[in-house]
Amino acid sequence: MIEKNKKPNVSNASRLAVAPMMDWTDRHCRYLHRLLSRNTLLYTEMVTAPALVRGGALHLLDFSPQEHPVALQLGGSDPAELAEAARIGAQAGYDEINLNVGCPSDRVQSGAFGAVLMLEPGLVAECVAAMREAVEVEVTVKCRIGVDDQDPDTCLPAFLERMRDAGCRRITIHARKAWLQGLSPKENRDIPPLDYDLVRRMKQAFPDLHLSINGGITSLGQARSFLEQGLDGVMIGRAAYHDPASILCAADPLIFGQGDASDPVAAVGAMLPYIDAHLGSGGKLHQVTRHMLGLFAGRPGARAWRRLLSEGAHRPGAGSALVQEALAMVAPLPSDREAV
Ligand SMILES: Cc1cc2nc3c(=O)[nH]c(=O)nc-3n(C[C@H](O)[C@H](O)[C@H](O)COP(=O)(O)O)c2cc1C
Repeated sequence: MIEKNKKPNVSNASRLAVAPMMDWTDRHCRYLHRLLSRNTLLYTEMVTAPALVRGGALHLLDFSPQEHPVALQLGGSDPAELAEAARIGAQAGYDEINLNVGCPSDRVQSGAFGAVLMLEPGLVAECVAAMREAVEVEVTVKCRIGVDDQDPDTCLPAFLERMRDAGCRRITIHARKAWLQGLSPKENRDIPPLDYDLVRRMKQAFPDLHLSINGGITSLGQARSFLEQGLDGVMIGRAAYHDPASILCAADPLIFGQGDASDPVAAVGAMLPYIDAHLGSGGKLHQVTRHMLGLFAGRPGARAWRRLLSEGAHRPGAGSALVQEALAMVAPLPSDREAV
């Protein structure tokens, strides 16, 4: 565990990050992911600046000290409000504050948050500058390569230049456009084509920026290859959520050159006291176990593990004994797990 006063090196941690994902990367999910990788940077779900500043929804910021290094993602477009939200987040102990310029959901669009801001780089720069002024921790941006009929070859470098001028040094680029009309948020994560080459070219054009690539990356091998090609970081979303062991267990040795691969069975063991504490404070088992369903993906017994947990965790009185029962269904780890 990281000592309270020892600041993690967030920039190094961002060589590999688990993406911010609404309803998915909550504190229970992050606690599990942290057991699988000591070094990988973890992001919260997006929290909107108005919810924090006007709504006083400070409970959205709760996290366990074990989660460090952990970044708070904010949504918003009002510089003063974002600055205040960033200050609240930094005070809560987050290691980085990230601004969402990539999320195309309707709700987010209606508040002029997320990907629609790709159309207003000047406003984003103002937001970033105000947030940087308010906090000591690093302020970063997650964006798309463009939206709608923008030409990514011109709008993305122009956007990055504005971010650099506003003092933002680290940016994650989801390597596809968002189409603000006609596609659902889910479709917007699959249908607009990926353009990895553009992101690689941006790294050549902006060698002083720390650029992470995101979108459609499904293995640790692929992540390593992007790092070898010169990208500074790789962010993985869905694959890390659905198959966390494949992405995270070998991340410490293979991406960070530190420590040994972790063992998902041991991680389940370490979740048990966490689950007991959660239940003891009035929480429900399924709130934690829903993030654990993919932990043994591809292994013998994975279906029984998933079925027992998904059917049993909602039942009244369900507790960590159910998790142990489900674990007994999973075959021992093959010794070739490190061969990613
Ligand atoms: C369920 C879900 C929720 C998401 N919520 C957010 C969010 O709150 N903020 C954000 O910047 N991106 C969000 N995203 C997008 C991811 O961060 C990521 O950019 C996208 O899934 C592409 O990466 P992937 O192909 O590795 O999943 C979400 C994605 C999913 C699947």
